[in-house]
Amino acid sequence: AKAADILPQVDSVLILACGTSYYAGSVGRCWLEAIAGIPCQVEIASEYRYREAVANPKQLVVTISQSGETADTLAVLRMLKQHQPVLAIVNVPESTIAREASAVFHTYAGPEIGVASTKAFTTQLATLACFTLALAEARGTIDEPRRKELCRTLLDVPTLMTQALALDDKLKAMAANLTFARDMLYIGRGTSYALAMEGALKMKEI
Ligand code: F6R
Repeated sequence: AKAADILPQVDSVLILACGTSYYAGSVGRCWLEAIAGIPCQVEIASEYRYREAVANPKQLVVTISQSGETADTLAVLRMLKQHQPVLAIVNVPESTIAREASAVFHTYAGPEIGVASTKAFTTQLATLACFTLALAEARGTIDEPRRKELCRTLLDVPTLMTQALALDDKLKAMAANLTFARDMLYIGRGTSYALAMEGALKMKEI
């Protein structure tokens, strides 16, 4: 199936993922609701899987996974694919989730070598931004000037990231100050709430 055939027919979106991919989905929900004007629910795949949730065949299910092999995410994909199209945002092209989904957006971040998923998260967000624009266009919730403005903003991201990466030395000095901190609080609202959760997860993991 092609995403372009599926998108105009859906009445809502259900994003299912685990860990970092779940936090990327939580950022995506804010964009989908605000820009594409579509109801969106985000759930941790391992919770959804063990609940007696009621499937809505008009809902577009989006699974997000770096590895494309996370057992709970794969299980919900197999479960829901019987009722409705399941789109997958996946990093590993030959993975099981990429092969079994109805349609796939590949994130092409390259192999994640470290335990902590980092560049995969960035590319998941970029993909969710493009997905939001595609859905907004298919549903007619965005006009051409706004679409162009958001595309330009997206194209500015590499420059902004290059500027952020140039802060390395300053960040190292700040990190040294935090070495003996006993607790850290990550605080944010909206898209920054999801980013705060992801930041806290990275700190716990490493
Ligand atoms: C975080 C991390 C894990 C994964 C989670 C989902 O840095 O590595 O929390 O994000 O296990 O993995 P994927 O995205 O491969 O389904």
